[in-house]
Amino acid sequence: MILELNEAAGQGVADAIGDRAGFIQTDISDHKSVEGAFGQIEQQFGRLDVLYNNASIFLGDSDRTVCDLSVDVWHKILSVNLHGLFYCCKFGIPLMIKSGGGAVINTASSAAILGIPRCDAYTASKGATVTLTRSMAVEFGPHNVRVNCIAPAAIDTPMLRQSSRDNPHFDEQGFFKMAPLGRYGTTEEIAKIALFLASDESSYLNGTIIAADGGITITSFSGGTVRTENGRSASDELQSPLDKQ
Ligand SMILES: NC(=O)c1ccc[n+]([C@@H]2O[C@H](COP(=O)([O-])OP(=O)(O)OC[C@H]3O[C@@H](n4cnc5c(N)ncnc54)[C@H](O)[C@@H]3O)[C@@H](O)[C@H]2O)c1
Repeated sequence: MILELNEAAGQGVADAIGDRAGFIQTDISDHKSVEGAFGQIEQQFGRLDVLYNNASIFLGDSDRTVCDLSVDVWHKILSVNLHGLFYCCKFGIPLMIKSGGGAVINTASSAAILGIPRCDAYTASKGATVTLTRSMAVEFGPHNVRVNCIAPAAIDTPMLRQSSRDNPHFDEQGFFKMAPLGRYGTTEEIAKIALFLASDESSYLNGTIIAADGGITITSFSGGTVRTENGRSASDELQSPLDKQ
């Protein structure tokens, strides 16, 4: 079942999957909307096996340093990225426990590992996603609910377009030189990790944070330099894919 705010996007994915998929228009920042959606899931299926918390917002130039950030923008970002995660877990995990267990997959970001300067609300929401994953893994492991997290970077989606690719200051070629794999990640690559975490193939993983970033966070820690045997050139200056300047 796809819970999504954007009707065309959610219904479109459900239609593409076919008869076995459904769509419930849901605003994850609204606890009543989330409670209603999980109520509908319980009524229709009587169980929940996998909860993939993937929706978030990135508000571009409105997200700033804590000193420059408006209170409204802070609340808006936290209300979707963190409160939305809380509501989905609050109403989803009890149903999962009643079903005998399952897998929760949260979506953080390289922002949770590196921080993104001048994007303090987004960074805070993703840092909290990582630590909440670890707490929930301990809390719900005894109920046979595994809680893991994917921390992506530079995946080619509308969010990446908004955060980087459409930004005239973003140095795409510099980024490709800094990224060990020399490219963006794809949504299919993230979906395969989510599928692994949802399946019994990952049955002993609980509380794990998978950096799905092609090694970008490692090069960031080492100064943004890539040295390869074939001599692919290095970018002297680190530029995070989600960094705006
Ligand atoms: N794309 C990247 O490079 C990147 C990097 C790091 C982390 N992430 C994380 O990956 C996840 C997916 O990001 P994406 O790149 O696909 O973003 P996206 O903006 O392309 O898609 C986000 C989806 O969330 C939905 N959404 C937004 N607000 C919602 C709400 N209140 N209720 C329900 N649905 C809502 C949107 O309609 C949209 O379909 C996010 O958690 C994001 O923070 C992405």
